[in-house]
Amino acid sequence: MLRRLHPDQPDSFAFTPANQEWAEAQITKYPEGRQASAIIPLLWRAQEQEGWLTRPAIEHVSEMLGMAYIRGLEVATFYFMFQLQPVGSVAHIQVCGTTSCMICGAEDLVAVCKERIANNPHELSADGRFSWEEVECLGACSNAPMAQIGKDYYEDLTTARLNEILDELSDGRVPVPGPQNGRYASEPLGGLTSLTDHESGRT
Ligand code: FES
Repeated sequence: MLRRLHPDQPDSFAFTPANQEWAEAQITKYPEGRQASAIIPLLWRAQEQEGWLTRPAIEHVSEMLGMAYIRGLEVATFYFMFQLQPVGSVAHIQVCGTTSCMICGAEDLVAVCKERIANNPHELSADGRFSWEEVECLGACSNAPMAQIGKDYYEDLTTARLNEILDELSDGRVPVPGPQNGRYASEPLGGLTSLTDHESGRT
């Protein structure tokens, strides 16, 4: 997917005093001459502050780290954790569309997003509160299909459950993250199948 900066950009960016202090502390973690290593956490904090990653924010962070703008832009446009356009004010739904999730119903989840949010990825819903996109494997393949919302994973999703999650978010509630089908983690849904001791009944 082509990742480009949004055509409408704010004039400037500044960290809040608390975030500025946090960012400066991050930079001290790295030895002299290696400050560029702090770019990902600083870009991430800028995104958390603004909701999405603006061009002035990328330039500001690059300047803080003594990097050419193009180096900052390379990082920001490479990782899809960085949102290069405004996202929904309540939630941005990242549906995994890679193999395991695709086989287990990711396309149906995308259909829910299209119906409930907007027809196209990265398009804001009519009320501006939601947006969605399809992303590559998020490393939770044994709990497919799944979606990331903010920093949380919602796994073992069905279309019905995704609809409920959207309702909950819309009502200002925070749906409980993790597997949505009663699993604790990624253990077999029908119970343990290995490392069992059948005679004692212990596991
Ligand atoms: S394929 Fe969806 S999390 Fe890996």
